[in-house]
Amino acid sequence: MNAPHPAALPEPSRSTALSQDSEYVGLKMFAIVLVAVIAVVVVSSAIRIPSALTLNDTLRHAASGAPASQPASAAPGAGPAPVVATAAPPPATPAAPGAPAQVASAPAPAATDAPAGAIQTVGFKPPAESAIPDGPLGDVIRKGEQIFLHTAQNAKPYVGNTLNCVNCHLDAGRLADSAPLWGAYLLYPAYRSKTKHVDTFEDRLRGCFMYSMNGKAPPYGDEVLNALQTYAYWLAKGAPVGEKIAGAGYKKLEKPTQAPDYQRGLAVYEAQCALCHGAGGEGTRSGDTQVFPPLWGAQSYNWGAGMSNISNAAAFIKSNMPFSKGGSLSDQEAWDVALYIDSQERPQDPRFTRDVATTRKEFHDTDDSMYGKTVNGKVLGQNIK
Ligand code: HEC
Ligand code: HEC
Repeated sequence: MNAPHPAALPEPSRSTALSQDSEYVGLKMFAIVLVAVIAVVVVSSAIRIPSALTLNDTLRHAASGAPASQPASAAPGAGPAPVVATAAPPPATPAAPGAPAQVASAPAPAATDAPAGAIQTVGFKPPAESAIPDGPLGDVIRKGEQIFLHTAQNAKPYVGNTLNCVNCHLDAGRLADSAPLWGAYLLYPAYRSKTKHVDTFEDRLRGCFMYSMNGKAPPYGDEVLNALQTYAYWLAKGAPVGEKIAGAGYKKLEKPTQAPDYQRGLAVYEAQCALCHGAGGEGTRSGDTQVFPPLWGAQSYNWGAGMSNISNAAAFIKSNMPFSKGGSLSDQEAWDVALYIDSQERPQDPRFTRDVATTRKEFHDTDDSMYGKTVNGKVLGQNIK
C-alpha cells in the first residue's frame, strides 16, 4: 500500500499518515462528535420513516399502528449498540413534523416506539469486515474492498483522477446517508433517467468509473467490476429486497429558503473546507498520498458525475462534511457551498457533443448544474486537463 487512504486505514496507520497535519488532533477529537452527530442524523431521519412507509401500498393498507413495529422487525441485524449510545436525544427531538398524518391513527405507539424507530433508520447493518469468509468468495470480496478503498492503485486502467470510491461513499461503502453499497445493491436493475435505460448494478459501477473517477468504464465481466459487485453483494447480505432501505443513497435536502449563493458559498468554503480541501480545491497531498481529496480541477470528478449535481452535493455535504462533523452546517450553508464547489472548473463531461451549449442542453438542462453557465466571466465546461 503505497498510497493508503486516510479514512480507510486502521487507526494506527491513519494517525501516522496524518501526524504531520496539525489539525489531526482536532480531527480525532471530532471522531467522537461524529458518532454523536450520526446518531442525531439517524434519529431525526427516523422520524421520517413512517411517512416514507406510506408510499408503500401494502403498509398503507395495514396502517393501523403496524407500520411502526413492522420495519423494526424487518431490520434483523440492526445492532442497537451505536444508536443506543445516544438514545437520550430522541425524546428531546421535536418528533412529529414529518409524521403527523401517519401517526394520526396510532399516536401512542408512535411516541413509545421512538427508540425502536431510531434503530430502524440505520435500516440495515452490513456484516463486519471480520465476517468476510475464508476461501475464494472471501478473496473476491476483499479484492473488491481494496478497489473501493484504493481505486487508482487497484483499478488503474479505469481511473483518471486521484479519487477513490470511498471518498464519496464513506466508511468503505458502509456509512448510511453516503450512498452505502448495501443500500444500492438490491435496487438494481433499475431505470435511471440519466441513462434512459434499465441499468444493472454492473452498468451503475461502470458509470462511476466514467464520471466520478473521470476514467474509463471497465468492460462488462471485467474482474474489477466482478470484485466490486461481489463486495456490494456481500455487504447487502440479508438486506430487505425491493425497497429503499433507510440510510440508502444520500439524504435529500429540501431546497433552501434563499437561492444558493456563490459568495456565501465561498465564505463557508474558506471557513470550513479549505483547511483540508485546499484554497484551490486541489485537496491535500503528502508525497504520493492524497490525504484529502480534490473537489475540483483536473484531478477531481468530471462534469458528468453525480456530485456535479448541486442537489446531490448539498445532500452529501450536509450529512458528511466537514469530515467527522456531518450535520453541523445549516441547510443553507450546505447548498451555498455545494453551489460554490460545483461552479468551479473540472474535467469535461465524457458525453460532450459539439459544443458546451449543446451538451448543456442535452445533459445539464437543470438548475442543479452549472455546466455551460458563466461564472466570473468564464463559461464552465472548458475541458481542462
Ligand atoms: C466524487 C464522488 C464519488 C466518487 C469518487 C464515487 N461515487 Fe459513487 N456515487 C456518487 C454520487 C453523488 C452518487 C449518487 C448519484 C446519483 O444519484 O445520480 C453515487 C452513486 C453510486 C452508486 C449507486 C448508489 C445508489 O444508492 O443507487 C454506486 C453503486 C456507486 N456510486 C459506486 C461507486 C464506486 C464503485 C465508485 C468507485 C469506482 C464510486 N461510486 C465513486 C459519488 C461518487
Ligand atoms: C478535516 C478535513 C476535512 C474538512 C474540514 C472537510 N472535508 Fe470534505 N472530505 C474530507 C475527507 C477525508 C474526505 C474523503 C472521505 C473518505 O475518504 O472517507 C472528504 C470528502 C469530501 C467530498 C467528496 C469527495 C470529493 O473529493 O469530491 C466532498 C464533496 C467534500 N469532502 C466537501 C467538503 C466541504 C464542502 C467541506 C466544508 C463544508 C469539507 N468537505 C470539509 C475531509 C475534510
